[in-house]
Amino acid sequence: SSRVDGPEGGELAIGGIPVTRLVEEYGTPLQIFDEAGLRRQVRRFVDGLHERWPDSEVLFASKSLPVVGMYALAQEEGLSVDVAGGGELQLALAAGVDPARLHFHGNAKSDAELRMALDAGIGTIIVDNDDEITRLERLLTKPQKLLLRVIPGVDAKTHASQATGGLDSKFGLPMDQAAQAIARMQAHPLMEFEGVHLHIGSQILDTEQFAEAVEKISTVGTFDTYDVGGGLGVKYTYDEVAPSVESYLDAIVEAARANLPEGARIMIEPGRSLVARAGVSAYRVVTVKHTGKTFVAVDGGLADLIDIALTEQRYEPVLANRLDEAWIETAQVVGRQCESGDLLVDRAQLPPARVGDVLVMATTGAYSYTLANNYNGALKPAIVFVRDGEARLVARRETYEDLLALHAPALAG
Ligand code: LLP
Repeated sequence: SSRVDGPEGGELAIGGIPVTRLVEEYGTPLQIFDEAGLRRQVRRFVDGLHERWPDSEVLFASKSLPVVGMYALAQEEGLSVDVAGGGELQLALAAGVDPARLHFHGNAKSDAELRMALDAGIGTIIVDNDDEITRLERLLTKPQKLLLRVIPGVDAKTHASQATGGLDSKFGLPMDQAAQAIARMQAHPLMEFEGVHLHIGSQILDTEQFAEAVEKISTVGTFDTYDVGGGLGVKYTYDEVAPSVESYLDAIVEAARANLPEGARIMIEPGRSLVARAGVSAYRVVTVKHTGKTFVAVDGGLADLIDIALTEQRYEPVLANRLDEAWIETAQVVGRQCESGDLLVDRAQLPPARVGDVLVMATTGAYSYTLANNYNGALKPAIVFVRDGEARLVARRETYEDLLALHAPALAG
């Protein structure tokens, strides 16, 4: 993002276009991505890991931004892709992602989804449990590459809703059940068992935890492939410090040199750290209320940013049309959904907001659109990618017609 001159002084611009102009054209709430920044961040991961460990693969954890335009960008910039369900698989295929570079996750994959993945020629299935092996025994008609997800027992130091590697995790099999599941797969003529997978959690700010995960996964056995998941945290507020991509890769590769067999293939699955910082959410201020405190209510909320309610992440919003104002007050930024947890920022430092101002929440590129819902009949926002002064719509705003189309009267008509 950058600063340009506007009618009220400094204004926020993204990809060379003032945010005020983008919201005039595309409406609000609007998710805006700096496409050049996004591509740069992808290359840091792809090139960075290949330089350090040539036999490696960086997977875009597509649950963080399952959008056709993003799947296409991911493939263009050299990423493979992980999908966690039939819907993400459909979106990836629609974007033209090479099925061999798709990897299928999930702790409760249905027969129908597995069949869809097998028919598409999916690269790898990351098997979660014994029932899934039984399903695959029934469904496989040709050789299929498989990994097994294990529970490492690494308790990621992150919000409880974001930790997935602890011993009570619903994802994967405990280490002491892995050997038996692996033996089952190795005995099957069509199962090409390649190695193991783990994922310890999300928004992890200490690279030591990734080193620990690599060490843990090495103890499962000697295999061709080790997929150590995603989870690198990003900086959301001025006082937060996040590791660089490079120091994260250093930590993983150092631990791999010390623990993994030589010649093994390493896979990682970043989501948040690829897309979060390239995206912002823009809203219109609808009302400003002074009761005991100052409330600034915007035309979105937990219907398009529910992640804040789930993770209690703090944000520092700005008024995109009034960057230069020196007078700052404390306000609570709230959404429009009927839920007291619909709070975007508890104590925001903003110029005294006015109806019609454009409020921007930065670092919302990950886990926003993907978790958007229709609470209170809210419509999914539009997404634009902006680069070199040009904007392109990659997801149109949901309409009332879209909303009605699912329901009985429309079905009858
Ligand atoms: N691999 C697997 C198997 C995952 O489950 C996830 C995320 C990732 C990779 C990517 O993790 P990342 O690099 O994005 O941290 N809504 C929650 C986050 C859920 C993360 C789900 N799994 C939140 O915003 O905290």
